[in-house]
Amino acid sequence: MTAATDTTTTPGGSARTSTAPAPAERAAPDPTAPLLPVVGHDTLVPLVDGRQVTYSNLDVAASAPALESVAERVAETLPLYASVHRGAGYLSQVSTALYEASRRAIGDFVGARAEDLTLITRNTTDSLNLLAGCVPADPATGAPGRVLVLDVEHHANLLPWQRLTDATVLTGGTTVADTLAQVRDELADGAGTGRPYVLLAVTGASNVTGESLPLADLVGAAHEHGARIVLDGAQLVPHRRISLADSGVDYLAFSGHKTYAPYGAGALIGRRDWLDAGTPYLAGGGAVRRVRTGETDWHDGPARHEAGSPNVIGAVALAAACEALAALDPDLVRAHEGALRRRLVSGLESIDRVSVVRVWDDAVDPVGVVTFTVAGYDPGLVAAYLSAEHGIGVRDGRFCAHPLLGRLGFDAGAVRASVGVGTAGEEVERLVAAVRTLVTDGPQAQYDVVDGLWVVVDDPRPVPEGSGLAGLLATAAAGYLADVAVCLPDEV
Ligand SMILES: Cc1ncc(COP(=O)(O)O)c(C=O)c1O
Repeated sequence: MTAATDTTTTPGGSARTSTAPAPAERAAPDPTAPLLPVVGHDTLVPLVDGRQVTYSNLDVAASAPALESVAERVAETLPLYASVHRGAGYLSQVSTALYEASRRAIGDFVGARAEDLTLITRNTTDSLNLLAGCVPADPATGAPGRVLVLDVEHHANLLPWQRLTDATVLTGGTTVADTLAQVRDELADGAGTGRPYVLLAVTGASNVTGESLPLADLVGAAHEHGARIVLDGAQLVPHRRISLADSGVDYLAFSGHKTYAPYGAGALIGRRDWLDAGTPYLAGGGAVRRVRTGETDWHDGPARHEAGSPNVIGAVALAAACEALAALDPDLVRAHEGALRRRLVSGLESIDRVSVVRVWDDAVDPVGVVTFTVAGYDPGLVAAYLSAEHGIGVRDGRFCAHPLLGRLGFDAGAVRASVGVGTAGEEVERLVAAVRTLVTDGPQAQYDVVDGLWVVVDDPRPVPEGSGLAGLLATAAAGYLADVAVCLPDEV
């Protein structure tokens, strides 16, 4: 892929006009050029003024497009797809082998130890709920195990602990150093009172700011006080290499749809003993050795928690994404993302009335997730404007991190832009220019709040046409934006 301009007025087809110079004239490589091609990088979307532009997907932290190599692997797999595990047919055996090989590839990608289990789940939420059900109770009293979690977490790494364990939520400080000290003190207090924490649950990278606490310090603090550590890798794994074996992290959860494999699979990888002893996550076929009407003998290993027909295609897709990311030079990924992020932050901060959100003043090496506010504009309006007038997709709201947004004073929400291996520098430039235009000229279209969602008044944008999806979309064509509003949960 090359650097590109985004102008076109023709519906359908590719929109990117290459502006890349011929190889002979090329100077230093552009560090913001996409590293891997993603499906849909050239998809056209309509604007309210009737033009069409290539979609700029700056919402990859919510869900990332498939890598082209992942989509190709899925297409290769579909003709081989058949029932797995108990099927005697040839393709059943091929599909079973593909599923189990994918499991191994996913575990290998995150440096699973030989004795670790790799479970195929639906996503990070699923993985963390599964693990929460396996946290051992206090052997003396039978009380639920104690889990320490910070208030910076996504709800997926907060609510499962609160529901299924004895969770303490620590309000972090404004610096990494301060927050780490609080974590250490709390773990030490727990151990000192004879009710030690058994688990520290922490994000690998914030879904609000991309920032993180230093992993080695967290692992050291947890282990020093007899606790294990689970890393919410939803925002980390798509951006940075992580090895369980090298880091000492006990459990890691992540999502395929954020890792360029949006086919419904995620993963939980980690120490076997809790998982083998824990209550099977789902009760049903495949998780059992033998069932009588009054007695069930459950499997151990991955099968224990994977009842029901597994998502073979999702696992194959996730393994393919892992393979593609593993083949990238980590320094190149860091340089690409760092350049995009620096441009985003400096561009946004150079605009009057725009502030970039930070959790910790001294955080280092944040991933490509940047949240900002525009004084005088509701975040929902900013997001609607970016979509309707510039064809840019971002996220607004409180990012399923209500405690953090509340503590930082953003109960009204904010706007989040996120970048990944498929993002081009020009997409970031488009966003910065569009926000600048908003501040200088204001929005050109009329917007209103319908059912809590900012929408364009009398939105003229058509639903996508010209594919097999037209029939499905036609059922919503009369008011698909209204349908979107109805489908949106309150928790944004
Ligand atoms: C940090 C973090 N953790 C967990 C989740 C939940 O991921 P999923 O919706 O794939 O379960 C998200 C999703 O945005 C996230 O950003």
